[in-house]
Formats: sequence, structure tokens, C-alpha cells
Amino acid sequence: MKKKNERIRPLLLCFLAAACTTGSAQVSKEALSLKEALQPAFLIGAAVTTRQMNLQDTAAVRLLRTHFNAIVPENCMKIQSLQPHEGVFHFSDADRLVAFGQQEGMHVTGHTLIWHSQVPDWFFTDKDGNEVSKEILIERMRTHITTVVSRYKGRIKGWDVVNEAVEDDGSLRRNKFLQIIGEEYIRLAFEFAHAADPDAELYYNDYSLALPRKRDGVVALAKQLLESGIPLSAIGMQGHLGMQFPSIREFEKSILAFSALGVKVMITELDLSILPEPSQRTGADIARKEAYRKEINPYTNGVPEAVYKEWQDRYLDFFTLFLKQADKISRVTLWGLSDGTSWRNNFPVRGRTDYPLLFDRQYRAKPLVYKLIERAQSDLPR
Ligand code: XIL
Repeated sequence: MKKKNERIRPLLLCFLAAACTTGSAQVSKEALSLKEALQPAFLIGAAVTTRQMNLQDTAAVRLLRTHFNAIVPENCMKIQSLQPHEGVFHFSDADRLVAFGQQEGMHVTGHTLIWHSQVPDWFFTDKDGNEVSKEILIERMRTHITTVVSRYKGRIKGWDVVNEAVEDDGSLRRNKFLQIIGEEYIRLAFEFAHAADPDAELYYNDYSLALPRKRDGVVALAKQLLESGIPLSAIGMQGHLGMQFPSIREFEKSILAFSALGVKVMITELDLSILPEPSQRTGADIARKEAYRKEINPYTNGVPEAVYKEWQDRYLDFFTLFLKQADKISRVTLWGLSDGTSWRNNFPVRGRTDYPLLFDRQYRAKPLVYKLIERAQSDLPR
């Protein structure tokens, strides 16, 4: 995968005056694609939508093919999509995604087997609406994981087996799995996934992992898993960033702490919101909902040059860190392709206009893309 000395094949990409949202940048030059520039360091991926995998969003598909060598489904492999009712599996969207990834020679990640969100109520209740026993919930987990992982055996490279099981204070999240089964649900999920596809990589994925107490909580959890014989391959740091938080220094400490466990680190859901934080509370807790106010939605008609510049610098600083720690990082995945379809337009406040990704609403590369390519070329050994 990492052919350090391989000659990089230049790709002529004519970006005709690819103005960013500021409308100021004139970019028209010969450049490598992102995947070529970053190839000596790590995979570069994007979360994809069902519309893209149905090839209805052709501009997005073109960008995917040009710049990315890894994909992950944004939604179609969550329990709610795959098994909306007990025993009723809907695989068509996920099948298309995996076929697309295979056809394009991309690394496909499955997201996600066990998560407290986007899981239907039936998973935890019986036909009368009462909470199921520990034994029944374990069997439901086993059935779901075994069915899904076996179907894509050998085709999905790795799985986000458990997503967001740790709270910001480092304790285990008090979700339904913990309440009904107890903390062993995490180990069981990994065991079921490993049994279904012994060659698949197994990941633990979470947000706000630069918070020291959360970092420690995840280190403790990963240690326990490794000590009990689970072949944990990597820890996924989601990377839903803001303009103030997290600090790059703390983010780096987490990369080092996870890597010291002997596992890889992946930046799995990267996006950088340009908008003001609505409150002191930060983080990508899906349950977080903040009220809309006009003043926290200031860029509905575009981003002023100076603000764009600040945003671009912060993105570059994070990528500089990833390049510096490239021997510990196996993949960096953006949570989406273009600003128009980013979930950040609606999280944590509904109905804002955000600019968190590398491609604008017209699918044009922002000047940042070329800065990233230049940075990779200057920082990486060739
Ligand atoms: C988000 C999707 O982007 C949205 O489309 C959906 O409505 C909610 O989930 N952490 C995760 C992702 O692990 O699965 C979430 O994706 C974002 C936060």
C-alpha cells in the first residue's frame, strides 16, 4: 500500500479558475491528485452517500475517482438501514457501495456495527415493548454482526466495530447495550466481527478523542481489549473539528497515546466547521441540538477572504500534523465530499450554511486542495 519510492504519476488536472467560496482564488495549474500526493503517507478517503453510489451525483463520483482511494458509507451500513426490522435485512445500498469500492480498487470501511444511534427500537425490546434480556440482546448483536460481516467477507477491509462507547469524562457511555448487557458488550462485538471475517481489520471509533480524560478512557478500553486477545487494528479519531477546538497539541498527544498501544490511528470523519460555536459545549455527540440564531449563521452569502484564510490555515496545520505522524496513521477520511451535502450544515444547529470540506457547493476544489498537495510534496520523503 505504501510504496514510498514509487514514482508519482503526474495527473494533469485543469482546474479552470476554481474559485473558492470567497471567489478570490484563481487556481489553474497542473497538479497531482490528493491520493497521489498523499500516497506515500496514508490512504485518503471520503464518506459517501447512497445517491453517489447510485451514480446519480456524477460530479461527486468524478471527484471520488480522481482524489480518493478509500470510501466509507455515511449512513447505509448503520443498523437502522441494514436491519430496520428484526430479520429483515436491506443490503442493496450497501452492496452497491462495496461493488463500487471494489471496482475502483478502493479501501472500503464498514461503518458501523454497534452504535447507540441510528439503531431501531426493536433491537432492545420484545413484541410487547418491554426491554429484552441480556441473553436476547447478545443474540441480536451476534446475528446482526455475523450476517453483515460475513456478507462482505474479504471485500470490506475493516470495520468500525464499536462507535462512541466512551463519554467525554472517560467513563463508558450509558447506552442501551451497557445498561442491558454490561461492559462486555464491547468485547463481544469485536469477537463476533472477528469470527465472521478473521482477516478484516477491527476498529474502535469515537469523537473528541483529544480530550485528555476521553483519551485515557479509550486507552484503558483498548488495553483491555488487547489483553483479552482482541486483534484491535486501529483507533479511529473522528475529527469533527471547530475553529477553536480541539487544540492541535492535544490531538497529537492522542495520536501518540493510541499508537503506543501498538495499533494504528485513523482520522475517520474529518471536517472543519467554519461557523461560530453556538455554546461552550463542543463535540460530535449526535444528541446535541442547539438553537438557531442568526448571528451563528454569518456566511449564507459566502465566506470573507480573511475568514477563509484562517480556516485554510487550520486545516493545513492539522494535515501538517498528520504528515508528521504519518508512520502512525493509516488513513485520513473526510466526512463527505462537498460543502452542500455536509452533515455540519445541520449539526449541532439545524439550517446553517457551513463550509467544512475540501470541495465547494459547485464541486470545485478549494485552493486548500492544492495547498495540501504542495504540503504533502514538501513534507513527505519521495
Ligand atoms: C451522521 C451522518 O453524517 C448524517 O447524515 C446522519 O443524519 C447522522 O449521522 N459520528 C458518526 C457518524 O460516527 O456516523 C455520524 O454521521 C456523524 C457523527
